[in-house]
Amino acid sequence: MCPAATKNPVCELLDIDHPLILAPMALTSGGALAKAVTEAGGLGLIGGGYGDANWLETEFVNAGNARFGVGFITWSLAKQPELLDLALSRNPVAIMLSFGDAAPFIAKIKESGAKAICQVQTRKQAEEVAALGADIIVAQGTEAGGHGAARGLASLLPSVVDAAGDIPVLAAGGITEYRDLVAAASLGAKGALIGTRFFASDEALGHPNVKTRIVESTADDTVRTTVFDVARNLDWPAPYTVRAINNGFTQKWHGNEGALETQKEEIIAAYPGAVASGDVDYMGVFAGEGIDRIKEIKSAKDIFADFIKSPSPW
Ligand SMILES: Cc1cc2nc3c(=O)[nH]c(=O)nc-3n(C[C@H](O)[C@H](O)[C@H](O)COP(=O)(O)O)c2cc1C
Repeated sequence: MCPAATKNPVCELLDIDHPLILAPMALTSGGALAKAVTEAGGLGLIGGGYGDANWLETEFVNAGNARFGVGFITWSLAKQPELLDLALSRNPVAIMLSFGDAAPFIAKIKESGAKAICQVQTRKQAEEVAALGADIIVAQGTEAGGHGAARGLASLLPSVVDAAGDIPVLAAGGITEYRDLVAAASLGAKGALIGTRFFASDEALGHPNVKTRIVESTADDTVRTTVFDVARNLDWPAPYTVRAINNGFTQKWHGNEGALETQKEEIIAAYPGAVASGDVDYMGVFAGEGIDRIKEIKSAKDIFADFIKSPSPW
């Protein structure tokens, strides 16, 4: 809880009770999950991902009357900037930008009245988005599920806090339970952005096999790789790789990317079928290092309640 006396800046900026934000996980953080997190007292960010206007429209409806934000993959948004207009037309509380140059978008976001949240993976990026006027900066450690980069949260977070000056910083990457919040607060974070823990929720989109795989795996089973982006025909720029759970696909192709390139047409054709059928030995199951401590799939409301049942560390 953010009692008025503590004046938590994330709570104040976003008008929420707890500075816990649902990560905008592409194709996973839909309207229902965002709504559940907002109703629990945080803020749900819908995963705008690679941008599909129809998907976004559907998830805006699924959010009902709840307040929400939207997250975009910035290099992809640059190819279809009209999606930002679509999102802003729904009066989001915030727009989150990650993985690319935020400069073309920040002024428009702020002019609309939404807050601009920028996720960074290096201290240099933190300095850049601070200069651009980001309202909130997310320090994403390499522990994170999905795309990210190389730096670990324990050293990145205080560096980003220092670079951010007065701008509040959220910790991201492996935030799974209350003690992670305490650790993040001790390094200067004013809140947290949480992905994988909410992936293993009733409301998250995605095949049940994927959620079960998350619960049954340990972080020792995860790897940072590019092979799923080849399989999905996505042109991700360096230095970004994805953290996923090792499976038959990574065992065959991770470290064998040259051969993967030669067979990619066939693999790209097969990939959507694997996703549709929940074939977790083939498709990418994107998850962070927090999975060691994720033991069950439950409602987002119950997951949120676990985070806030002890005194606020903020
Ligand atoms: C399945 C999945 C999909 C993700 N998709 C996105 C995305 O589309 N855009 C984005 O900015 N971050 C995305 N992320 C990364 C999150 O923003 C966040 O940094 C990460 O989930 C935090 O680490 P955690 O998963 O260990 O909580 C994704 C993460 C996961 C697990």
